[in-house]
Amino acid sequence: MSHSDIVLSAQGLVKRFGGITATGNVNLDLHKGARHALIGPNGAGKTTLINLLTGVLEPTEGRILLEGQDITDLAPHQRVRRGMVRTFQINQLFDTLTPLETLALTVSQHSGLGARWWQPLGRSPRVVERCEQLLEQFHLTEVMNQKTNVLAYATPPAGDRIALACSRACCCSTSRWPACPPANARNCCRPWRPAGRCVGAPD
Ligand SMILES: Nc1ncnc2c1ncn2[C@@H]1O[C@H](COP(=O)(O)OP(=O)(O)OP(=O)(O)O)[C@@H](O)[C@H]1O
Ligand SMILES: [Mg+2]
Repeated sequence: MSHSDIVLSAQGLVKRFGGITATGNVNLDLHKGARHALIGPNGAGKTTLINLLTGVLEPTEGRILLEGQDITDLAPHQRVRRGMVRTFQINQLFDTLTPLETLALTVSQHSGLGARWWQPLGRSPRVVERCEQLLEQFHLTEVMNQKTNVLAYATPPAGDRIALACSRACCCSTSRWPACPPANARNCCRPWRPAGRCVGAPD
């Protein structure tokens, strides 16, 4: 694989909490199109590493590069704008909205239409088209008009709530790089086949 295929790179990442070293000198390169699972025993530092990569925690030492650019000092929302998106095991969704409304909001915001609060959702054909694609890709078309609080967590092949969380992450992600917990990672990579990368680690 060529160097230009590296999407995400961690170089000498260290995180110390007082006397505890949660991640000690982590070096990794994630290549375009690859899918990875991060596994390890309790306390190995998996969540800490995901928190470092996504900007929730500041590293004690080391650097993080996204598509060759140093993002070590960027806040989580700035990383999201660059296409690095994360999902959580306990997802936080808009319970009173439907999947269609949730995705329409997210796609609108991501397309720069978020500040046009006076326009009804769904006015832009581009937004509608993208929502339709995402609903289909994540098998949510059937439930697109149901309130999110009645959606199931664990209907096979993956729960609708998990599917919605991943579809929302995908529409924020230019490079489609969701980080999800292992139970979801398997599902979000397999049946939906999002054309992208997936890093799995428990929250
Ligand atoms: N905010 C914190 N303050 C102090 N110590 C912490 C903090 N977060 C994590 N740690 C410690 O860092 C180490 C790594 O924890 P981390 O939660 O990253 O492990 P993990 O691999 O995700 O574990 P698990 O499988 O239990 O989720 C542990 O010893 C943990 O107690
Ligand atoms: Mg953890």
